[in-house]
Amino acid sequence: MDISSIEKIVSLCKRRGFIFQSSEIYGGLGSTWDYGPLGVEMKQKIKNHWWQAVVTSRDNVVGMDAAILMHPKVWEASGHVSQFHDLMVDNKLTKKRYRLDHLLEAQSEVVIGELADEFLKDYNPAENFDNIQKIVQVISANIKTGKTPDLNQFNILDSANKKDKGKADWTGIRQFNLMFRTSFGSSDESATEAYLRPETAQGIFTNFSNVQTTSRQKLPFGIAQIGKAFRNEITTGNFLFRTREFEQLELEFFVYPDETKKWLETWSQERLAWYIKLGIAENKLRLRPHAETELAHYSKACYDVEYEFPFGWSELEGIADRGTFDLDQHNEHSVKKQVYFDQESNQNIVPAVVEASAGVDRTFLTCLVDAFTEEEVRGEKRILLKLSPQIAPITCAVFPLVKKDGLPDIAEKIVQDIRQEFSAFFDIGGSIGRRYRRQDEAGTPYGITVDHETLEENTVTLRDRDSMEQIRIPTANIRKTLREKINDWDNK
Ligand code: GAP
Repeated sequence: MDISSIEKIVSLCKRRGFIFQSSEIYGGLGSTWDYGPLGVEMKQKIKNHWWQAVVTSRDNVVGMDAAILMHPKVWEASGHVSQFHDLMVDNKLTKKRYRLDHLLEAQSEVVIGELADEFLKDYNPAENFDNIQKIVQVISANIKTGKTPDLNQFNILDSANKKDKGKADWTGIRQFNLMFRTSFGSSDESATEAYLRPETAQGIFTNFSNVQTTSRQKLPFGIAQIGKAFRNEITTGNFLFRTREFEQLELEFFVYPDETKKWLETWSQERLAWYIKLGIAENKLRLRPHAETELAHYSKACYDVEYEFPFGWSELEGIADRGTFDLDQHNEHSVKKQVYFDQESNQNIVPAVVEASAGVDRTFLTCLVDAFTEEEVRGEKRILLKLSPQIAPITCAVFPLVKKDGLPDIAEKIVQDIRQEFSAFFDIGGSIGRRYRRQDEAGTPYGITVDHETLEENTVTLRDRDSMEQIRIPTANIRKTLREKINDWDNK
């Protein structure tokens, strides 16, 4: 799959009602997207799938739902005010803005070598990615002491300036805090500066004691949450991959501090397995341990679950050992201690945490990219989404062959019956071939056609989206057959 397929997926999403550009009638707002009727169904199914896997199926994980707005001191304590920033630089010729690490990732090894000679003491040419992280760290430290390097001393090209061979005139490098600012209060004078949360995790940390004491959970146990997060990203792109408003699926799993290593391994494997269960190709997924230079300010060790997108291997989820950093910080800055009374040792302790933090929208994009298929059938192009029946917006479409002879009424009744268990859709418009094509693009795994044989024999045809195979089954067995087929799909 090449990079142009992302454009094809964006176009399919609009055509079929998965995703629309936000504020499209006003020319659109960059990198913000609205979920349409099919998109919202699939998104909800992904969230349900995660909630079932992480919360409902376990004794030792409970859920919560915190407010997006939190006391501004939360973000001082968590380190987001002082440390949650990226370095950015603009090309004055193209007016294009870059995140420094992204800009450097697009440069040749020669340029990275020159930068490494300037900024790094030890430099391993084979570790380009690691070198870039280290260079960015050194530049960041230099900026804090008032020294800003001039990127124009190096041959750093701007890939956006194609007509002028990548020529650039770089501004100074600046630090940019990624939190979205807003004001809290009714008048300018009384308003306090607040932030839209950049991660849902802090809502869990600040409620640790509330949740632990009311749910009477014992270590090790987890608190999970699904919710919106906001980041004023310098560069966005690749459709839903990096946006400024997105939704997170976060689990904070609290453990005894000497047990983080074990739980980091356990949760990394569990989380990788979840993506495979979601129907994503196993050979396109991997777990990658973080180099020390990549770790977030709160993290001691981390694995990323990555997927091989048309634009390269990229992060879907981070599983991190956050140690006791967050609870320690809140204990230092807040008025109420977040501690756990350990009955065995008869004392209060601060638990450590292993976090599994994923993105709903990124998972959604991954499912689409992984399922998107173009093939030729009898000389014609067929586009389909080979989505798992677990997350396909519609599980089964029902088509009366013709609009007469009582076939629509029977089809409607079948739809009502299927809806008791699965999502179903009644489609009467256009030739049967067109209706199949529409549902293939919507990722609907099964289609039922009601025809004249249905009147005589009480049977229907069941069509499989991927193989296009059709079988005849009794009308009374539709739900049972769907159940069996979905089960087979899950176990294949
Ligand atoms: N609480 C830890 C945390 O927020 P993160 O690696 O910054 O860690 C976790 O984010 C996940 O949230 C990412 O793996 C990704 O799936 C999603 N995510 C982060 N920034 C995003 C963005 N700008 N657009 C879409 N998803 C994003």
